[in-house]
Amino acid sequence: MIRINENYAKLKASYLFADIARRVGAYAAAHPGRAVIRMGIGDVTEPLPPACVEALHAAAAEMSERATFKGYGPEQGYPFLRELISRHDYGERGCNVEPDEIFVSDGAKCDCANIQEIFAADARLAIPDPVYPVYVDTNVMAGRTGQAADGRYEGILYLEATESNGYVPGVPDAPADLVYLCFPNNPTGAVATKARLAQWVAYAKRNGAVILYDSAYEAYIRDPAVPHSIYEVEGARDVAIEFRSFSKTAGFTGMRCAYAVVPKSLTAPDGAGRPQALHSLWHRRQTTKTNGVSYPVQRAAAAIYTEAGRKQVRGLTDFYLGNARLIRAAMARLGLACAGGEDAPYVWVNVGRGSWEFFDLLLERAQVVCTPGAGFGRCGEGHVRISAFNSRENVEEALARIAAALG
Ligand code: MLT
Repeated sequence: MIRINENYAKLKASYLFADIARRVGAYAAAHPGRAVIRMGIGDVTEPLPPACVEALHAAAAEMSERATFKGYGPEQGYPFLRELISRHDYGERGCNVEPDEIFVSDGAKCDCANIQEIFAADARLAIPDPVYPVYVDTNVMAGRTGQAADGRYEGILYLEATESNGYVPGVPDAPADLVYLCFPNNPTGAVATKARLAQWVAYAKRNGAVILYDSAYEAYIRDPAVPHSIYEVEGARDVAIEFRSFSKTAGFTGMRCAYAVVPKSLTAPDGAGRPQALHSLWHRRQTTKTNGVSYPVQRAAAAIYTEAGRKQVRGLTDFYLGNARLIRAAMARLGLACAGGEDAPYVWVNVGRGSWEFFDLLLERAQVVCTPGAGFGRCGEGHVRISAFNSRENVEEALARIAAALG
């Protein structure tokens, strides 16, 4: 008789953002007259850059003509987009990433979730706390952990990110096989220096580990000393896979386009100790399980690399960073210490009390939604994440309401 994958029973009943959406939905239904401002999930609010819209229209017109119509595209993405990514996102920063090392996909969330499939079921995990829950939950589903106890799973080496290390975990003494890192960080907004990333690359080499580097918020980095890619560190091509997204860069959360970089030089041994190219495994996985991203969406993504597109994307990310500055200033006026928001669209606020308690308080008294830090892991307790993705009007209104509620 068919049985379920019992690893699912180890998970919390619902995914963090689904849980929050349910609570907020219930509140809104019970208080129909109160306008709720959502600064919880990091979902963009501003329209697509005009260069992307133009490219989308032009691609739609191509799809309407027999001569230019496109059916299935290459599963890894069209060469025109992969070449632009290689040249602009990497070449211009002195990193060598070849177009055929880039796998275009419909989201960094899916890539971060799916990549674990190409590694052994008994891979030892090192995962930050607090963390984007996808890294943990997908490994739980795959059976790499034991049960959860007190908010932590057996079998995960937790990399604690706290105020005392500036929310950037250092390398542990214990070995791990698969290390998840995310900078600029979701949820804390912290960034890692090149020296810190070099320590991680050295750790991976020492331990035969692979680093899964989530760089979805790279476009928010303004400090010129902060690396945008792990490949800015020498030797990283031998130990790291990198994930990027157009979602937060160009407002593509509703369009869906991202990419993963799997260097061809990156190998891991099979059971007999023979090195196998991870690029081949990921290529096999992707060609089997996806038909890629639609042609119009890839054309729209390519438009961010035009001169106009670059300016528009910079304007968009500057706009959200302007919101983050307002949030930081408002928290400071309330006497609440915060991190992030300078090279990232998230502000991580130390609220000095239970994070769900603070979430409820903001919702009840200010009708503002934040994300409780405890939802990201044990070390997130006592904090909330406030997202800068919103209109200026909503951010100003939300901050005024929070000041009134807490003042
Ligand atoms: C977040 O709020 O953490 C992100 O929006 C989630 C995501 O990108 O999937």
